[in-house]
Amino acid sequence: MTAKQKLILALDVDNRSRALEIVDRLSGHIDIFKVGLELFTAEGPSAVKEIQDRGKKVFLDLKFHDIPTTVAKAARAAARLGVFMFNVHASAGSEAMLRVRDEVVAFSLKEDRPRPLVLAVTVLTSQNGDVLKTELGVQHSLRTHVKHLASLAKRSGLDGVVASGQEAPMIKEHLGRGFLIVTPGIRPSTYPPDDQKRTMTAAEALRAGADFIVLGRAVTNHPDPEKALEQICMDIGTGG
Ligand code: C5P
Repeated sequence: MTAKQKLILALDVDNRSRALEIVDRLSGHIDIFKVGLELFTAEGPSAVKEIQDRGKKVFLDLKFHDIPTTVAKAARAAARLGVFMFNVHASAGSEAMLRVRDEVVAFSLKEDRPRPLVLAVTVLTSQNGDVLKTELGVQHSLRTHVKHLASLAKRSGLDGVVASGQEAPMIKEHLGRGFLIVTPGIRPSTYPPDDQKRTMTAAEALRAGADFIVLGRAVTNHPDPEKALEQICMDIGTGG
């Protein structure tokens, strides 16, 4: 895969015209755009379709987390939208993930359409071990928890996980190179972490084993997004 095929840009904006402006401006560098909760809640599936109409792929980042039937039906709707990838929370449990996998495979076979990649969110990159322990009551370490949820996702037939670059080597070692890792929380060393707690530079995340990296505010909030993106591509190229 080329560097361009590994980059995902998060369209964390609240309206389609701003989203499409970013797509048009950065489409020379980016093939996969991420539609998350904010844009999807504001504009719905038409935002996804307009990005696809421009020949771009969509990562639908809605992090489904509900009872198995609801999650499976949402997964079918995501497959019908023709997204490249979408995600569910691993903590929705194995029954939900197995149902999602079965639903997506059945839909794609029936409709003869490419199957979207299905990823599980392990632990959000905005959370750390303290939050897990003091707020969520998880007593073992963050790494153990990520490993546990990633294993559950693999056993449930999902394609990979969303995880921080800090856990990527452990996940690849434990679950094999073919199990995909999508890594958000990417920050150039000179950029503030915002609300992210487990950050890495793009080059570090790729070196750690990420198959795709999600770029967000470090590019879209930069006064010159093209320049920020070019710098990240250069760092990736030189391993810096
Ligand atoms: O702006 P920033 O680089 O922090 O953006 C990260 C993006 O990745 C956001 O759209 C966020 O919703 C998403 N994300 C994340 N952590 C996850 C899954 C997705 O930060 N575990």
